[in-house]
Amino acid sequence: MSTRRPIVAANWKMNKTRPEAAEFLRAFLPMFGTSCASDVVIVPPFTSIPKASEFLQGHPLVGLGAQNMHPKANGAYTGEIGAPFLVELGVTHVVLGHSERRQYFGETDSFINEKVLATLAAGLTPILCIGETLDERDAGKLEAVCRTQLQGGLAGVAADQAAKVVIAYEPVWAIGTGRTASPAQAQEAHLFVRSVLAELLGPALAQQIRIQYGGSMKPDNAVELMAQPDVDGGLIGGASLQPDTFFAIVKAAADSVA
Ligand code: PGA
Repeated sequence: MSTRRPIVAANWKMNKTRPEAAEFLRAFLPMFGTSCASDVVIVPPFTSIPKASEFLQGHPLVGLGAQNMHPKANGAYTGEIGAPFLVELGVTHVVLGHSERRQYFGETDSFINEKVLATLAAGLTPILCIGETLDERDAGKLEAVCRTQLQGGLAGVAADQAAKVVIAYEPVWAIGTGRTASPAQAQEAHLFVRSVLAELLGPALAQQIRIQYGGSMKPDNAVELMAQPDVDGGLIGGASLQPDTFFAIVKAAADSVA
């Protein structure tokens, strides 16, 4: 059995105003006892981060994430947010290279790489998203795409910081579509991702790095997905918007290592 501690993140995307974020957290946080075998991260839109921070700053079990970050700390980058703005709000994790950012905002592996390095330099934990589209999978390019995204995204990451990085494997065809990778498909892809991590960073670090699955994970498929030996948690979109469904997924992750 893996000794990696699972990590489950709620990617709220462009959902939940400040009152809605507060309402969620008021219901969600009491669902925990005093311990949880999984790390948990709530990732609100930027404007709701301060409200979520009121609930989460210093919380022993639940971290606070951002959905994006600019690699520069400050300056003439209209519309962008750099690490110091997140750190001062108690942010601990940053989702980077999500397929929606790659697809709609033209983010490239080299730009994402700058962000990965900037998060680590600021003491933040990057959640680096990778994954193939349906066309790429059908064309037999899953491995090539994931390898390129990992190589590009992780370039220059120092060995002493690499264990902190979280990878989210999210097949693009499964995101928000209700179409999930089967547990076997997820395990196969995660095993491949780990083998590339071993090539890039060495086998010891590859064993430590956590790889989340993302793409229509729900309470009813989470148990089987989390049971896969190389699935170390989830990046959850739609099912993270309701406290009870998100908590059910967190519980599946925690139970998978119990
Ligand atoms: P989904 O989104 O759970 O709604 O498919 C996952 C994600 O995009 O991170």
